[in-house]
Amino acid sequence: MSWMANNYACMTSRTASFWKWKPSWSLAANTSLMGLYASNGNLFTQCEPEGFRKITYYLDRPDVMAKFTTTIVADKQKLPVLLSNGNKVGEGMVDKKRHWVKWVDPYKKSLPVCAGCLSKLSALRSQYVTARGRNVLLEIWTEPADQDKAAHALESLKHAMKWDEERFGPEYDLDIYMIVAVGDFNMGAMENKGLNIFNTKYVLARQDTATDSDFHNVERVIGHEYFHNWTGNRVTCRDWFQLSLKEGLTVFRDQEFGADMSSRAVKRIEDVKALRAMQFPEDAGPMAHPIRPDSYIEMNNFYTMTVYEKGAEVVRMYQTLLGRDGFRKGMELYFRRHDGQAVTCDEFRAAMADANGVDLTQFALWYSQAGTPRLQVEGRYSPAEQSYTLTVRQSTPATPGQPDKQPLHIPLALGLVGADGHDLPLQLEGEAQPQGTTRVLDIKQAEQRFTFIHVAAEPVPSLLRGFSAPVRLEFDWRDDQLAFLMAHDSDSFSRWEAGQTLAERLLLRLLAEQAAGQTLTLPEAFVTAFRAVLKDELADPAFKALMLGLPSESDLLELVDDADPEQIHRVRTFVLDQLAAALRAEWREAYELNQTRDYRPQDAGKRDLKNRALGMLNRLGDSWSATTARKQGQDADNMTDQMGAMLALRDRAGLEREECYAAFACRWQHDALVMDKYFALVAGSQLPDTRSR
Ligand code: PHE
Ligand code: ZN
Repeated sequence: MSWMANNYACMTSRTASFWKWKPSWSLAANTSLMGLYASNGNLFTQCEPEGFRKITYYLDRPDVMAKFTTTIVADKQKLPVLLSNGNKVGEGMVDKKRHWVKWVDPYKKSLPVCAGCLSKLSALRSQYVTARGRNVLLEIWTEPADQDKAAHALESLKHAMKWDEERFGPEYDLDIYMIVAVGDFNMGAMENKGLNIFNTKYVLARQDTATDSDFHNVERVIGHEYFHNWTGNRVTCRDWFQLSLKEGLTVFRDQEFGADMSSRAVKRIEDVKALRAMQFPEDAGPMAHPIRPDSYIEMNNFYTMTVYEKGAEVVRMYQTLLGRDGFRKGMELYFRRHDGQAVTCDEFRAAMADANGVDLTQFALWYSQAGTPRLQVEGRYSPAEQSYTLTVRQSTPATPGQPDKQPLHIPLALGLVGADGHDLPLQLEGEAQPQGTTRVLDIKQAEQRFTFIHVAAEPVPSLLRGFSAPVRLEFDWRDDQLAFLMAHDSDSFSRWEAGQTLAERLLLRLLAEQAAGQTLTLPEAFVTAFRAVLKDELADPAFKALMLGLPSESDLLELVDDADPEQIHRVRTFVLDQLAAALRAEWREAYELNQTRDYRPQDAGKRDLKNRALGMLNRLGDSWSATTARKQGQDADNMTDQMGAMLALRDRAGLEREECYAAFACRWQHDALVMDKYFALVAGSQLPDTRSR
């Protein structure tokens, strides 16, 4: 086959050569960013899921796997760099004007991961040596002017390669790994074999143009696409219904990578927040679908939060049920059995079951049932028996097309916290001795009961530790028990969760009081809890920043029937303003104690906490805080502090804001990615002139 572009370029493969073939469409008119398209004078392809058919004829299904050889011919001056999958085996001139480059990929692959890139881009290069000693050339291709923003992507790639070797075993399998950055791209990035194509947003990062979270996102997406080389490319999907086979699994892998590169506790909380903010509403709405959908009209619309993020939770549950070693054994068997094949989610589940000798039949329901399951738990302490009994009920709400649901296999991780704040040893009725202090219970029926023995006094249960399953948990903790967990739970996810639940309860109570026309007051206990977090000198600043965040407006919208967004906004603003005023000295101290000199990535948590404090202080409307924010913006040597200042001033009319925003726009007007941040801030302002701006 050949891919020709405006008469000045073409690609051929060994299967057939149509050198004379010309597209009936013009490249510039292809604004779908699928198939072969132009962006800033360079040419790129995007074939997943069904883009190749926009280029030419093929059996365009993921289970048609073949070895490809690609030859690209193009005008040498206009398009000097010609890239495709595999290893480069030759190049030369066709005539005075046109050059050719030939690529051979020795691995069978499916068409969606075939790619070509014809460009004038430049490369930042380095080397990686795999565990078995293969030398791999690494290249990050960007616009020449952006080369000084490519180093972090390159480092992230090396980290990802090493991490995967250590954690799961697989190694890279070609002599070259290329990442190409393009400004026009539909998604985050694409895992084409040996030739990833990336949205510039997930490649370019320099301390003065990218925030700490941009740096993390670059690392995460680089990891994600790299991990696809095994989970997606070497083993691929039989059909698009199986998309979660590669995406859920690869998101899980990138989450774990992110956790190992930074703080596991913070990463887990952030991932769960995102799941709840974006996937739970999908699962509760008219678009609810299982992670393996039963039908689709336009495949492009199925790259959903459910397929990706809930899919990752489903993969994580295997690991929770089987343990890290058991999960790794399952992965190894999956690779051994299915390398070079196009398979289904059932093969993955079978590999996990067979490698561990367990029955995962019921677990299959996670792939076919939509909707977020509810887990209702009740606890009863018996002083006479010295036992604590948990009753667990599960149900999944009806979703479109699925009125009746069956009980799922749910791993429920839990602990029991004693009065001294320490975890109790957990011994179930019928067991000879205790087994650890965090245990995973297999919930398989609609209702189940578990009795823990030798419990000397009433404990506080810590449930769904680490968010062990993508469910909504209900348990009737007293407020003082939540405050206790918030202070003592050994599981940091559950600690954070306890604080969030407390805050949620308070906000809902205030919402009701506001609706009844009462004057609102913030309970002293709540302020005290916040003060304790702010003053905790031992805690990781990133974790503190998370603990100091209130549930979002959309979190609250989810909890109230017929919610009024405006009322929710008012109540949440009230609480934030009160916390700002009551803890003024503590916020100020946090602002000062978390200053950092010279930019270092590992200080991200401090910057986060400091900027949160600056935002709170600017709620007070005093001139010190506005001047401080403006000064921080002026002096910042990194984008996180710059953004922190601008966010703190975003909702304050005045000279400080005008100057800060104007200076920023003037400085960055030529940087598209940076200006995207600026526009987002301007558009997010709560001031009345936002629309006209
Ligand atoms: N497969 C890509 C990924 O998740 C996503 C993608 C889908 C990109 C479709 C482009 C088009 O890594
Ligand atoms: Zn992916």
